[in-house]
Amino acid sequence: MTAEQSNSSVVYGDTFILKLFRRVSPGTNPDLELPLALARTGCTRVPAPAAWFEAAPPPEGPGPRPEPFTLGVLQPYLAGSTDGWQLALDALAVRADFTDAAHALGHATAEVHLAMADALPVSVLRRPQIEHLAAAMSERLDSAAAAVPALQPYRGALHAAYEDVAALGRTGRTWAAQRIHGDLHLGQALLTAERQWSLIDFEGEPSRPLAERRRPQPPVRDIAGMLRSFDYAAAVGGHDTPQDWAGGMRAAYCAGYAEASGTDPRDEPELLRAHETDKAVYEVLYEARHRPDWLPVPMTAIRRLAAAVR
Ligand SMILES: Nc1ncnc2c1ncn2[C@@H]1O[C@H](COP(=O)(O)OP(=O)(O)O)[C@@H](O)[C@H]1O
Ligand SMILES: [Mg+2]
Repeated sequence: MTAEQSNSSVVYGDTFILKLFRRVSPGTNPDLELPLALARTGCTRVPAPAAWFEAAPPPEGPGPRPEPFTLGVLQPYLAGSTDGWQLALDALAVRADFTDAAHALGHATAEVHLAMADALPVSVLRRPQIEHLAAAMSERLDSAAAAVPALQPYRGALHAAYEDVAALGRTGRTWAAQRIHGDLHLGQALLTAERQWSLIDFEGEPSRPLAERRRPQPPVRDIAGMLRSFDYAAAVGGHDTPQDWAGGMRAAYCAGYAEASGTDPRDEPELLRAHETDKAVYEVLYEARHRPDWLPVPMTAIRRLAAAVR
């Protein structure tokens, strides 16, 4: 593949694609585990693994055998598909409507979430887990603000967004957690030749430890990732009023999600805002380090999110 990738993929004609993981760790890679589990539920939104290979380390003494490393996964190649990022930019370039596509993508995301909740362990986040979640977000904000001074003026308001979530936890609010995609954005969705959305690349953020990536999390984390992606598309696609375009796509995506799942992410505004903020903070740090020209994109979101708190 010539695409910019974090792993390496080889396409066989137009039938199969083999993904070789560049960074491996002991234990099944979620990009094998999750699509396999989804295929077993009959979910057709994710290409089902056809084959995979792993390295089994030799046993070290009498203890349990070390876990194998997943090295690569072969899956059907969706010939004639285009990823959501490219589609959104194409639509923006000719001012074509993307609302229906965003709605259908929300629908597809909810279907995949429901299937994962069905097939894999779920849990309930109560006060201690919610406080832990908010504290982890606060810590990430502090370390990002230490590295990127532009964040400093918004720190108070952004911390308040996390504190709102912790406060709800203290009043007895609970949230469902389940396995999620872990790194959802427009580039991880393919619109097939049959005009169906498929989700790919369930590896999560490869820089995070495997145990953390495999932990049940609120599905809104994935939703927040996709919402942030609309912001990027609007900015990169050069829309005159990027926030309006992104706002329309966010609404369509959430409505599609609600239609399929019965749960509208906008009905939990504190949780959604905290996750979007966490993502935008991550983006600020990433852009400051790697692509300073892009820093204004997440900084615009930071200002919007900070202004929305109370
Ligand atoms: N099943 C598939 N059919 C067609 N194209 C695919 C398929 N899986 C991946 N691709 C293409 O390969 C790219 C990289 O795949 P992805 O799984 O996201 O790898 P990475 O982990 O490197 O991001 C995707 O953006 C998409 O363009
Ligand atoms: Mg990818």
